[in-house]
Amino acid sequence: MNIPVDNHTILLVDDEPGICKVLCISLTDMGYTVHTANDGDEALRIFSKQNPAIVMTDIKMPGMDGIDLLKKIKEKRPETEVIMITGHGEMDLAIMSLKYEATDFITKPIHPDTLEIALKRAEERISLKRQLREYTENLEGLVEEKTRELIAAERLAAVGQTVAGLSHAIKNIASGLGCGAFVLEKGIELDEKKYLDQGWQMVKNNVDKIKHLSLDLLNYAKPSAIELKTCDPNLPAREVADLMSAKANEMGVLLETQICSDLKSFAFDPDGIHRCLLNLVSNALDACAECGASRHPRKIVIKTQKSKGWAVEYRVEDNCGGMDETVKDSLFQSFFSTKGKMGTGIGLMLTKKIVGEHNGVIDVETRENEGSLFIIRLPLNKS
Ligand SMILES: Nc1ncnc2c1ncn2[C@@H]1O[C@H](COP(=O)(O)OP(=O)(O)OP(=O)(O)O)[C@@H](O)[C@H]1O
Ligand SMILES: [Mg+2]
Repeated sequence: MNIPVDNHTILLVDDEPGICKVLCISLTDMGYTVHTANDGDEALRIFSKQNPAIVMTDIKMPGMDGIDLLKKIKEKRPETEVIMITGHGEMDLAIMSLKYEATDFITKPIHPDTLEIALKRAEERISLKRQLREYTENLEGLVEEKTRELIAAERLAAVGQTVAGLSHAIKNIASGLGCGAFVLEKGIELDEKKYLDQGWQMVKNNVDKIKHLSLDLLNYAKPSAIELKTCDPNLPAREVADLMSAKANEMGVLLETQICSDLKSFAFDPDGIHRCLLNLVSNALDACAECGASRHPRKIVIKTQKSKGWAVEYRVEDNCGGMDETVKDSLFQSFFSTKGKMGTGIGLMLTKKIVGEHNGVIDVETRENEGSLFIIRLPLNKS
């Protein structure tokens, strides 16, 4: 019902025109606009048209009686105040009407005081309901406002965490650069080529780190870092294996590649996936380095394979280090690293973001002191 409710309008229903007329005069004198109906059907028609806040109805009428009318009105607009007019000996009906949520009942012959009290009560209920509605609306507004404040506070906390993580990463690189500069200076001072080479290498390594850090951060900050191109999913796996083989060799780590020749080209971001696999292989190499030569052979396998429901599955597995439950649970958190000055904790957070942007999934299986397996699954994406 879209017609606004008129709080000063009463619909009066009685099959006796005399009673209707007298009551109508009293109610008009009390300041109400009154509509009258002589039966239930007419009352419902007027109710739909005028949307009065109060209905006064005789309880016994031919055709639709007062109780049926009460039920229908409550179905149409439950908050309508319905006052039942009863005759003598109709107490049972009057009580039944209260069960159907009538506001009150008044007995014929209607005394002006009784009428006034019943209407006052109905008006009080109308005003109470209005206040309750306003209060609920205010409460909703208040909850919305508080939620907005909470989100802002959470964002601020997240920014704080990011800045803290970033400062930590930058501080590590700066201290690496400082050490390199110190060794270089010693080399110059003592004219020792050994120190010059060593210091220069340290500076170069840390300049490389800054380059990677800023690239990773730029990628992370972009709303969408991926650019879909249709190509062979084996391409980034081969590239990363080629790129890392020299380093693995130097460390005495076996880097094995198992390529599935049966995979079809599909749309994905080859550079993004290259970055992900590079992060996984770098982490595996770090785990091998930490494990030392005690484990023999130390081995990393980069594998591509088919996976039901996915376009490709990449696997990067190492047989070193592994992780305990705490590390496993925190892996993908921003700036989480167990590598002290050697790690920024951006690698996996960026990897997860890139995989997520492909609508893919990344999983990890790991056993402490035994090794880890990272699995990336990518779906068919439309380019
Ligand atoms: N293959 C792995 N074996 C053991 N631990 C791992 C492995 N891969 C990841 N981790 C753990 O997850 C942490 C987070 O890895 P992530 O790549 O995000 O950061 P990082 O390697 O420490 O630093 P960087 O940002 O330089 O990559 C690592 O510090 C390490 O504790
Ligand atoms: Mg890493």
